[in-house]
Amino acid sequence: MAERLTDATAARLRPSAGHVEETLGALPTMFPRTVGPNCLKYVQEVISGGLKVNMAERFEKAFAESLGVKHCVTTPGCTSALATLAAALEFEPGDEVIVSPVTDFGTIQGLCLENYIPVFADTEAGTVNVSAETIEPCITDRTRAVLVVHKTGLVCDMDPINELARRHNLFVCEDACQAAFSEYKGRVVGTLADAAAFSFDPEKTMSSDIGGCVVTDDDALASRMRFIAHDRGAVWIPGFGRYHHEMGYSYRMPECTAAICLGQLEVIHEHAAHRDRIARLLWPLLSEIPGVTPLPIPDNVNLFSCWMVGLWMDPSQFNCTAEELSQQLADAGIPGAGTAKYYLMPEALAFLQKRTESRSHQFSIPPASRTYTYGADTCPNAKAYLENFVRWASVSEKYQPEHCELVADIVRTVADRNRH
Ligand SMILES: Cc1ncc(COP(=O)(O)O)c(C=O)c1O
Repeated sequence: MAERLTDATAARLRPSAGHVEETLGALPTMFPRTVGPNCLKYVQEVISGGLKVNMAERFEKAFAESLGVKHCVTTPGCTSALATLAAALEFEPGDEVIVSPVTDFGTIQGLCLENYIPVFADTEAGTVNVSAETIEPCITDRTRAVLVVHKTGLVCDMDPINELARRHNLFVCEDACQAAFSEYKGRVVGTLADAAAFSFDPEKTMSSDIGGCVVTDDDALASRMRFIAHDRGAVWIPGFGRYHHEMGYSYRMPECTAAICLGQLEVIHEHAAHRDRIARLLWPLLSEIPGVTPLPIPDNVNLFSCWMVGLWMDPSQFNCTAEELSQQLADAGIPGAGTAKYYLMPEALAFLQKRTESRSHQFSIPPASRTYTYGADTCPNAKAYLENFVRWASVSEKYQPEHCELVADIVRTVADRNRH
C-alpha cells in the first residue's frame, strides 16, 4: 500500500494554476502491482512440490467458492477462456452472437475462431455499456447468445438483459475482465448470467502474470470446457492412447500463475472495496469541472470495482482534441492518461470488414443468413462517446483520498487551460 499523504504534503503537491507539471510522479502508478501476502508462499509451494501440487485446481475451487458459483475452469487468459466457451457452446458456423462494441479483441477472438458472427449492439448513449434496449434490435433467427462486457468495472443492467435473453432462448455470458468483484444489486459479477469470463493479466484488478477463467453453474458446460481446454478434446483409449473426439486446445493455467492468483484472491475483496471508495470520492470532484463528465455510475452498481477512470469531454467547450487533452493530463502527472478509440471493435477489426466485403468465411452465404457490415458508423453511440473519451487505468488499491484531490486538480487545471 502506498504511503498515505499527509494534508501538508497533499497541499504542497496540489498544483497552482498552470503549474501542474510540479505534480509529476506524485500519483501512484499501476506498477509495481500490489500482491497478496501469501503469493510468494504459494509460488514456493509449486517449486518445492516439484511442479506437481495441483495449484490450478486449488485456485479453481477457491475462486468458484468466493463468487458462489459451482465451477471455475482456468485458462491462460480471458481470450483463451472465451475461446474455450465459444467452442464448448457448439453453435453452428454462421450463428450470431450479440456482443458489446466497446471492448478488447479478446472478447471477439473465440467467436471468430468458431466461425460465429459477431453482431455489435450499440452502447447506451453516454456510456460504454450495452443494454437490453440496444441489444433487442440486433436479435434475429440466427442469434444464439449475448456476450456483454462490464466495461471499466461498471456493470451492465443485467436483469433486463437476462429477461430479454430468456424470451429469445439465448445464452448470456459476462466478460468480467474489467469488473472483478463489482456488484450489481448486491450480486457479484460472475454470477449474473449463464457464464462469465475473467482475466488476471498484470494490469487487471485481480492481477497475476497472466491468466483467466470461465465460471458457470452449468455442470455439463463446465466439463465440456475442461475437455476442450485442458484435455485437448481427447479421451484415453486403453491399448491405443489419446483419441481426439473434438478439436481441443491446450489452454491450461500455469501452476505459478495459479499460485499468484490464489494469493491475490485473498486480498481482492479489500482491493475492490477500496477502488469503489476511491471512485466515489473522485467522481464528484471530477463532476464539478466544467466540460468534463465522468462515466455515470448506475444506482444499481452498489460496488464499483473501478478498473479505469473514464471522462467524456464536451467538444463544444474545448479548443483541443481528446488526444491532446489526455496527452496534457499524462504530461501533468496522471499516469496512463490516454484515449481509447481502438476499443471500438466494429472499426478496429479490419479483417472482419474485409471478410464481409469478399463474403469469405464466416460470411459466405450460406451459412451466414444476412449481409453484415462492420465499421465505425454501425454503432453511432459508441463512436460518438469514444471520440471524446479520456481515460486512465491507474486508480488502484494504492490510491488515497488525497490522490483524488490531486487528480481533480490536475484535470481542472488542464481543462481550464484548454477551454474556449
Ligand atoms: C474486456 C476484456 N476482455 C478480454 C480481455 C482479454 O484478456 P486476456 O488478456 O487475459 O486474454 C481483456 C484484456 O484486456 C479485456 O479488457
